[in-house]
Amino acid sequence: MKLTLLLLNSLKGLPARMDHYSRFSPSPLSIKQFLEFGMKSANEKKSFEFLRQELPIRICNMMKEMNLLPEKLLKMPSVKLVNSWYLQTLQDLLEFEDSVNDSPTRERFTESLTTIRNRHANVVETIAQGVLEMREGKWNVDPHEECNIQYFLDRFLMSRISIRMLINQHTLVFGSETNGHSSRHIGSIDPNCDVVSVTQDAYDSARYLCDQYYLASPELEIFTKNGSDPTSGIHMVYVPSHLYHILFEIFKNSMRAVMEHHGVAAEEFPKIKVMVTKGKEDVTIKVSDEGGGIPRSVTDEMFNYMYTTAPSPPKPGTTTIPPLAGYGFGLPIGRLYAKYFQGDLQVSSMDGYGTDAVIYLKKLSSEANELLPVFNSSASRHYKTPAITHDWSRAGNHVRPYHSIYRSMSRCYKTTSIPVTLAN
Ligand SMILES: Nc1ncnc2c1ncn2[C@@H]1O[C@H](COP(=O)(O)OP(=O)(O)O)[C@@H](O)[C@H]1O
Ligand SMILES: [Mg+2]
Repeated sequence: MKLTLLLLNSLKGLPARMDHYSRFSPSPLSIKQFLEFGMKSANEKKSFEFLRQELPIRICNMMKEMNLLPEKLLKMPSVKLVNSWYLQTLQDLLEFEDSVNDSPTRERFTESLTTIRNRHANVVETIAQGVLEMREGKWNVDPHEECNIQYFLDRFLMSRISIRMLINQHTLVFGSETNGHSSRHIGSIDPNCDVVSVTQDAYDSARYLCDQYYLASPELEIFTKNGSDPTSGIHMVYVPSHLYHILFEIFKNSMRAVMEHHGVAAEEFPKIKVMVTKGKEDVTIKVSDEGGGIPRSVTDEMFNYMYTTAPSPPKPGTTTIPPLAGYGFGLPIGRLYAKYFQGDLQVSSMDGYGTDAVIYLKKLSSEANELLPVFNSSASRHYKTPAITHDWSRAGNHVRPYHSIYRSMSRCYKTTSIPVTLAN
């Protein structure tokens, strides 16, 4: 009882602090800035000063936005759980709001960041479980709500990627932990990231899973073309774990498609071909499979968190082998990782033949700026506006009253610029 009262008292000031921090926009950093921050001259004092402001700003921007989700979604156990983790984390961070910037405080801060990172380790799985329940019809979600969920998840999960990046950089550079990589790494950044070797690693992991499920797997073939320096391999400044994550998701998809399309009993399977190129601006990685492709009518759906053609994966904890597919989160999260540092992930397919997934990354670390969601009026308007009505005719007899067509067209003419809701 006493404990509950104490907790309630300490939570009292929280809404006001949340209002305060959510009024600030996050400050995006480039990979180059992350590197400079983490080099030998690294200044833990400065990093502490920056993070004790920036982390609450990013967290409060996101929590404000989460509050705009429809009431019934906020009541979902998975959303409530995630929300409680964020509240606890905000409270942990606010302890450092006015503290002196001395060595014992900074040590406690780094320890606190590790606790925070562990607390949020299962956010994606928890949210995915909630989305699975929605897909199974438990929460009766209408199309407008579905559109909001898609918008929210892109922003929420991007914010999470960015918060983890900040935490990892600080704890790896200033804490006692190491990331298990060579000493050339600056936190989680590899200044000389070997793209082909990360590709090979991601393929090996996906292949291991594929072998478990299908008892066979397609081979890999990698081609490279370094347009800027034909004599060298393809290296860049990047976060290898992010690139690995994107490629792992793509390989799992390609392998599943190839195995399902050709049938496990097939004598041999067409190889998965990867082309890695480096040009003036971009490093591009194309993964091509002959897994039968995807009809054009569903290509728009592929990046939807609700979309999957795989059976629902077993509940977490009931099996030791992670699922090869089934949450529908692979492509949308892969694209977020690519976009986080101003890259992209695009998929194009030839129905009946195969699929190309293309990852674009910024070659120059000075151009690789974080892309961050900003909570502002145009973001909150998004949750209130009903689903956009179509202003081109659609296949089939889709009769709608004239005024609704007129309204959606006139809205377009009135909007002078596209509202910017992602920081640049
Ligand atoms: N290379 C591919 N070939 C054929 N279909 C694909 C390919 N990549 C993705 N898809 C389709 O897109 C869906 C969504 O993929 P993803 O987001 O990774 O979720 P999941 O793999 O969990 O289903 C897949 O279920 C599949 O139907
Ligand atoms: Mg997948």
